[in-house]
Amino acid sequence: MQSDQLFRTAVYPGTFDPVTNGHLDIVDRALKMFDQVVIAIGTNPVKESLFTIEERLEMVRETAGMNGKVKITSFDGLLVDLAARYGACAILRGLRAVSDFDYELQRALMNRKLSPDIETVFLMTGFRWIYISSTIVKEAARFGGSLEGLVPPLVEDRLRKAFRQGR
Ligand code: COA
Repeated sequence: MQSDQLFRTAVYPGTFDPVTNGHLDIVDRALKMFDQVVIAIGTNPVKESLFTIEERLEMVRETAGMNGKVKITSFDGLLVDLAARYGACAILRGLRAVSDFDYELQRALMNRKLSPDIETVFLMTGFRWIYISSTIVKEAARFGGSLEGLVPPLVEDRLRKAFRQGR
């Protein structure tokens, strides 16, 4: 086996609107198994985003970008095409509760149909973040609730600022 085949990259896609400690926990866990994790910020057409792609990129860069094994990008189009561009062997997704399973299974099987060589790898989210999502964090922030321990402090600041601006 050639040495470059031993370098394993996983792509971690999501909307990241905004990034939470639950997402960062998945990245930390993945780095125990992969040499590089590419955090890929995409657009889910059924979701209305609070932050622009640029703002989301900035928050991810500021919270995960200092780790040399993490790359950060945004993408349009098919996830499997992005994974191929990075030479990734895996798509990484976090699982929280059983309720995530049907949705994730469907997407994993569709991605396998589109690109049989790329495996989807699921990691269990740390227990402390099992109940959170970007949506629930935004809702708490909108009404002034504490986000302590759920998002990095700079993300909490951006959320408060966004809601102060009346977004
Ligand atoms: N901690 C905290 N929250 C977590 C989490 C964790 N460990 N794991 C998942 N979540 C939450 C996310 O915050 C998000 O919450 P939200 O719904 O409130 O925003 C939700 O679970 C999962 O959504 P997300 O990870 O953002 O992905 P998505 O299902 O919206 O998909 C893309 C976004 C970009 C990955 C997807 O649309 C995509 O792959 N697009 C490319 C098009 C394509 O290739 N399509 C064919 C393949 S099926």
